Amino acid sequence: MSLINENKERDKWSSKIGFILAAAGSAVGLGNLWKFPYSVGSNGGGAFVMIYFIFLFVIGFPLMLAAITLGRKTQLSAVGAYRSIKKKWAFVGGLGVVCGFFILAFYSTVGGWVIYYFVKALKGGLAIKDPEVLGSIFGGFISSPVESILYQGIFLVLTLAIVLRGISGGIEKASKIMMPALFVMIFLISIRSITLPGASEGIKFFLVPDFSKINMNVIMNALGQVFFSLSIGMGVMVTYGSYLDKDSNILGPSAYIPMLDTAVAIIAGLATLPAVFALGFKASSGPGLMFVTLPAVFASMPFGKVFCFLFFMLVLFAALTSSISMLEVCVSYFVDEKGANRIKASIIISMIIYLVGMPASLSMGPWKDVHILGNLNFFDFYDKLTSNILLTSGGLLLSIFVGWVWGADNAVKEIELRGVKFRLAPVWKFLIKYVVPPAVFIILINSLKELIMAIL
Ligand code: TRP
Repeated sequence: MSLINENKERDKWSSKIGFILAAAGSAVGLGNLWKFPYSVGSNGGGAFVMIYFIFLFVIGFPLMLAAITLGRKTQLSAVGAYRSIKKKWAFVGGLGVVCGFFILAFYSTVGGWVIYYFVKALKGGLAIKDPEVLGSIFGGFISSPVESILYQGIFLVLTLAIVLRGISGGIEKASKIMMPALFVMIFLISIRSITLPGASEGIKFFLVPDFSKINMNVIMNALGQVFFSLSIGMGVMVTYGSYLDKDSNILGPSAYIPMLDTAVAIIAGLATLPAVFALGFKASSGPGLMFVTLPAVFASMPFGKVFCFLFFMLVLFAALTSSISMLEVCVSYFVDEKGANRIKASIIISMIIYLVGMPASLSMGPWKDVHILGNLNFFDFYDKLTSNILLTSGGLLLSIFVGWVWGADNAVKEIELRGVKFRLAPVWKFLIKYVVPPAVFIILINSLKELIMAIL
């Protein structure tokens, strides 16, 4: 099995588990381990988690199924999938390609941090309990322009190397070991974190919603997080679905992937937030949360050094299985649609992403106050632009497309091929036609309003 089609014959997943792992590998990444805990922290805690869950069920699950179904139906990657059903809609796939560029631009910044921490942990340099010291290590690193851009580059080179060599060989096999290992690992860390003295405040903060904290911002960010975490709205799941053959049931994976993804996010939250309270960090401290909190948790565990190093290795792995899915969408567009040479296209695209991404790294240091829009620096701008606008638009268009243009009934027919019975079809049809589009639309309008007000 390979995602790379050098020859005319289109590749397929060799096994159902290969598909589930690759799709889950795309979904489970920094979005779960790094972004979810700090987003909970800076969006008021339990209220954010609650809204996240509502969106997950009402919007996330239905869209996941819609995307995979569209892919399997057309057997084409994003642009082609839309085009083959309705020519004018090809632009939705194009939107995903653009989005992939911008996500990877800041994702690689954080990927670089993970590599740096991995190396540091390997040398045993993270066995520190003092929050202040950990904070200044993190602050010192991300604000040094040369180092952070260097590590960002290393992350992109790794991503490129995997995409060039195809997914099948290493990544699929490695996924089978590393993903379960990651799961066990964060589970252990969360137990340590929950049992730290003073952790109960953090558990409360995480799980008990404070309704007064809910505002439009929290709602926009929660929806953005659902899209980001599930890798939905830029064509990844359409593309991955397109490598499935008609014999495979798509209902199971469409349910397992979001469940697995959410489980990882919740456990990551439980690993991080109780420790934040127990060890005297600030929940609202933003992107650095994982990097400063978890080393302190390790430092208070037996075999902490080993755990620390293993943990950052697995985070790196999770980040790479996600970043390759983004690069793959961009590359396959130029290869499939523009007839580009795969190797050349991959290298040039990575270089452009690196260039676009450098300001994201710089905005943690020297360019902190270089505001590209309103009070958003480059890093925040790429993040908001993708999660709150591009992915949301992609999700909105996907629901309209599957619900109305292709037609929910036709989609159900595709799902029910070969005698599969989709018992929840009426519920899904209702959601994808009448609930998802208006709900996402309202939130998208608010995000746009916000963006425009920031410009004015
Ligand atoms: N879902 C990944 C994460 O949680 C990030 C990701 C990979 C992504 N591919 C994507 C997000 C496509 C949006 C679209 O880290």
